[in-house]
Amino acid sequence: MNLKDLYINFFVSKGHKQIPSAPVVPENDPSVLFNTAGMQPLIPNLLGAPHPYGTRLCDYQKCIRTVDLDAIGDTYHHTFFEMLGNWSLGDYFKKEAITWSFEFLTEVLNIPLKRLAVTVFAGNDDVPFDEEAYNIWRSLGVSEARIAKTVDDNFWIAGDIGPCGPDTEMYYWRSNDPIPENFNPEDNRWVEIWNDVFMQYVRHEDGTFTELPKKNVDTGMGVERTTAILEGKNDNYEASIWQPIIKEIEDISQKSYYGHEESMRIIADHLRTAVFIAADPAGIKPSNIDQGYILRRIIRRAIRHAKKLGIDINTNWEERIAKRIMDEYQEYYHELVTNRDVVIQVLETEKNKFNRTLEKGLREFSKLTENLTDKVLNKDIAFKLYDTYGFPIELTEELASEKGITVDIEGFKEKFKAHQELSRTNSQGKFKGGLAGNSEIETKYHTATHLLNAALKEVISKDIHQRGSNITAERMRFDFNCDHKLTDEEKASVENLVNKWINDKLDVVVTEMDKNEAIASGAECMFIEKYPDRVTVYTIGDISKELCGGPHVKNTGELGHFKIVKEEASSAGVRRIKAVLED
Ligand code: ALA
Repeated sequence: MNLKDLYINFFVSKGHKQIPSAPVVPENDPSVLFNTAGMQPLIPNLLGAPHPYGTRLCDYQKCIRTVDLDAIGDTYHHTFFEMLGNWSLGDYFKKEAITWSFEFLTEVLNIPLKRLAVTVFAGNDDVPFDEEAYNIWRSLGVSEARIAKTVDDNFWIAGDIGPCGPDTEMYYWRSNDPIPENFNPEDNRWVEIWNDVFMQYVRHEDGTFTELPKKNVDTGMGVERTTAILEGKNDNYEASIWQPIIKEIEDISQKSYYGHEESMRIIADHLRTAVFIAADPAGIKPSNIDQGYILRRIIRRAIRHAKKLGIDINTNWEERIAKRIMDEYQEYYHELVTNRDVVIQVLETEKNKFNRTLEKGLREFSKLTENLTDKVLNKDIAFKLYDTYGFPIELTEELASEKGITVDIEGFKEKFKAHQELSRTNSQGKFKGGLAGNSEIETKYHTATHLLNAALKEVISKDIHQRGSNITAERMRFDFNCDHKLTDEEKASVENLVNKWINDKLDVVVTEMDKNEAIASGAECMFIEKYPDRVTVYTIGDISKELCGGPHVKNTGELGHFKIVKEEASSAGVRRIKAVLED
């Protein structure tokens, strides 16, 4: 049995319900580009909202972290990865969490105690030493010498604000060297494999903490790293998760992994990430902003490394690798079956686009960097490579660093700004920012989205369905299937109807029911397979009924005045409305 199944079975046997992995692109959380941890889709529940599955949950969650993109190519960084997690929502706390972690590691995974060590929170001005966690570990037989008290790494929060608390991390001795009696977390032969976070606080914008209404447990274990450890591999890419993909690349390039590790790891990592982004229900396509930019950047970087390996990049090499990846994962992620063709299409289109300029761009790069006297690539060259040859700036940086050249990034950004495209890079700041939670205005937009969905059905056609939605504190965006541009009359009618419903002060009622019952009762939902068996359904008067995780306002009267600011094409057969709520 593989690690994912062992983990889920174990926690199910401890009374947990398995919840499905949420999409990699978060829904209704514009503060981050991707889910970066298993807890991210559960933030409303960690803050107190009931979860339809109950108070003990477990899952494997698709995550993407882009902060370490430059580090990809070493033995253990991955852009996309799977995180195992178990949660208590106001149910069990430290004793059960730690005891079960210990039991899973030592009795299910059979890791010898002598290879394990842990850290606990040492305490600071805000939060005291976690004596309770310390004593629980001691009672389980972990020696004093193997429990390190630290501060920096033992307080966990996603970004800057949101639910958080002290944690205890579990480490494994990943080396053939003799195992020291004393645990030193700074020694990188000790690698972290699991983190139990005791979420007791919420951190606010102003830096203050308040207690959560309920104490929760949030845990996270990386599938790739732990699998490699269990298989005795010091290089994650040598483990069974990566080997089929690496073998495919060896086969295509007719080269051995050994001697070409860096490029093969980058191709494997980036294409695996690209597959999961392209297959996501959010329908992301390569572009110059947000998630689309990450997708473009990683596909282009993978292409460059394929070329470095001597792969003929005009062949269907990327399709072969993508298919291999999808074959490996489709048992766990259904979107890889339903969106298989979409993924292949996205990769091929982007490849063709980049192939047209890559060769010329590389020649231009060589020419322009040949006679640099100061080893600095100026902003004009960097911008030309971006603008004319489609080189993401990070790719130019990588090419330059291989020649010992640095790039005038600040200058590039200024030029970029001058071309009025700063918003595109600004958005990259998002994945550093962490979670904003659902502000009051976002909650209002959430409810307005349901009203708009209902109004479009009434005014245009009952066959209209939501194809996507995105909410920020400034506006809402709603994509829907429709074969024509809306006329001014249609837009006005939709707007008037939504405003009528707002003025009618309709109650927004939430109920919990079985998924099938909800569908049978006519509740609307976008991706049926994505929902658990028990769901929450939001009903607004008698005009709207949708499966939805919330949050919503209690009465439509709270929304203010609804106004459509833009109606445009989103993709073939899909229209996009941007709208705002005004006081
Ligand atoms: N959310 C915690 C982490 O990502 C478990 O480490």
